[in-house]
Amino acid sequence: MSASRVSQILFSRVSHAIRKPQHLITPVKYYSSQVNNYECIKTEIVGEKKNVGLITLNRPKALNALCEQLINDISHAVDHFNKDKSIGAIVITGSEKAFAAGADIKEMENKTYVSNLKHDFIGEWDKIGKSKKPLIAAVNGYALGGGNELAMLCDIIYAGDKARFSQPEIALGTIPGAGGTQRLTRVIGKSKAMEMVLSGNMITAEEAEKTGLVSKVFPSDKVIEEAVKLGEKIASHSQVVVLLAKQAVNSAYETTLQQGLQFENRLFHSTFSLTDRKEGMTAFLEKRPPKFTNE
Ligand code: CAA
Repeated sequence: MSASRVSQILFSRVSHAIRKPQHLITPVKYYSSQVNNYECIKTEIVGEKKNVGLITLNRPKALNALCEQLINDISHAVDHFNKDKSIGAIVITGSEKAFAAGADIKEMENKTYVSNLKHDFIGEWDKIGKSKKPLIAAVNGYALGGGNELAMLCDIIYAGDKARFSQPEIALGTIPGAGGTQRLTRVIGKSKAMEMVLSGNMITAEEAEKTGLVSKVFPSDKVIEEAVKLGEKIASHSQVVVLLAKQAVNSAYETTLQQGLQFENRLFHSTFSLTDRKEGMTAFLEKRPPKFTNE
């Protein structure tokens, strides 16, 4: 199912609830402030409670090759959704054929070492990975090179059953430059990462799930819908506790086990200063759903 179809369905659920006449429904209406301002992406707010940001890469002719404008657009949209208090999670997706076929080779062809250094080529990508709100990649089709690296910048990857992942930079006479030798190795281990990076071979969605690169595989027409559902579930929790949980899991990649356990313990203790922690436990004992205020 395409992203716009999903948003149509999700939006029609919302609009039905507020009795909006069907002929007035357009998938983008509820996010009119940003939706037309991007050159290479579409953004929408989706979910029954309108609490999930959906970013759809939109350079179909170039299979969503990640040109600088596209990365800047994603970075800006992620930043915008981070600032929007109603948003609890962000889904990034592409088209049925390609999540993204890598960094833009046409744009890279004439770059030099000095220009890369001066303009901090790839620097903007890091900002996407630093999103405070959870990022979920919904991958259909090709996630190659920078496409796989963009997916790995996200916290969770869901894949359609026809998705394909690879780091093909070696065939272009370069190496992965946005995490493909580092994040991939931490996630799937040295032997499998070496095999992908040195051969450039593609792996299937099924293999990606087996290695832990992808957390779940769905029929391709269901992957965005499932990612949005997951985003809605995450968004139903306290945003501040979700952030602490995300920081704790991420620290497992940066620290020794003892340092990580200590960090986790401190964050766990710190949740006891939150109204939401008290509300969560009280609601459980009173057998009612919690009402989190993100404090
Ligand atoms: N950059 C720029 N344009 C790209 C592109 C890319 N990464 N990938 C595809 N395109 C363009 C093609 O040039 C083509 O454009 P034209 O119609 O103007 O010729 C269009 O998208 C469609 O592509 P194909 O005709 O090649 O489609 P296909 O179905 O035959 O093949 C594919 C699909 C296997 C994905 C093939 O396009 C491909 O191999 N693409 C390149 C993948 C790649 O090497 N990615 C790594 C980039 S380097 C990188 O990402 C560095 C990093 O770590 C940051």
